[in-house]
Amino acid sequence: MTRPRILVTRKLPSDVEARASAHFDASLNGGDTLPTRESIVADAQGKDGLLVTVTDRIDAELIAALPASIRIISTFSVGYDHIDVAAAAARGIAVTNTPDVLTDATAEIALLLMLGAARNATSSIATLREGRWKNWAPTGMLGTELSGKRLGILGLGRIGRATASRARAFGMEIHYHSRQRLSPELEEGACYHADTASLFGASDILSIHCASTPQTRGLINRETIANLPEGAIIVNTARGDIVDDDALIEALASGRLGAAGLDVFNNEPNLHPGYLNLSNAFLLPHLGSATLETRNAMGFRALENLEAFFRGNPPRDLVSA
Ligand code: DGY
Repeated sequence: MTRPRILVTRKLPSDVEARASAHFDASLNGGDTLPTRESIVADAQGKDGLLVTVTDRIDAELIAALPASIRIISTFSVGYDHIDVAAAAARGIAVTNTPDVLTDATAEIALLLMLGAARNATSSIATLREGRWKNWAPTGMLGTELSGKRLGILGLGRIGRATASRARAFGMEIHYHSRQRLSPELEEGACYHADTASLFGASDILSIHCASTPQTRGLINRETIANLPEGAIIVNTARGDIVDDDALIEALASGRLGAAGLDVFNNEPNLHPGYLNLSNAFLLPHLGSATLETRNAMGFRALENLEAFFRGNPPRDLVSA
């Protein structure tokens, strides 16, 4: 029996690639060359499915150019804002993602960002590494602690809840806004805010966990930042385009906001250069899911979705527009 033919756009962990080759006629990217739109279309010829990542922009134009043989796009990510799911559906192409398996790793990075931002990690590390640390000083390099602070969670989904549970262990008080109020079991005592203005007003630290959608893009802007308390901290592990960079940089530079911890950016990896000049911006290069355990689990989940689909079963993680 012929095995389904899949194009894997990026190099994946070796165990994942081994399983891909065992179950599929898999075209791998051993050199991890960043594919272009043209190369994806060219390499998709004769394939039945694509295994893509967040670096592949699978928009309507690219979907229209794919060969008719492509029946499924499985993304190695929980987010699927890089795929035009409606355009895929219109061509009868299924789209799947990898929820759950990166929840813990991403929540850990959210806590790292909170700590790094609150405790001046950027300027302190630079002071030490550049030989400017002259002595311990009672008033030197003071930050603020998480304990006793109000954490506002924008989007209390899986990752938001995992972040909240870790933040509770730090003694934080949890507030949240989601499109709908959650059940008491899922809220676990978190205080619901019916709108973002109310949530922002109650957030010493605001952690962004909503998906990037037309409704959330640019949601952190001059107007909404004004609702945060003076000196508040913003943390983002979700998507860069939820933030208006100019507004956030201005608020950080002026001291209106105390700090930011950012793992995701508009136009990655070419982030707004203004962030690099800010000592109160603690920046990471999109590390949310970057552990071997998690990247293996994401790869296996992406393959399971393909395997189920080609067996004729509904994939576990079908997404809809
Ligand atoms: C995702 O899965 O959406 C992350 O951004 C990459 O792990």
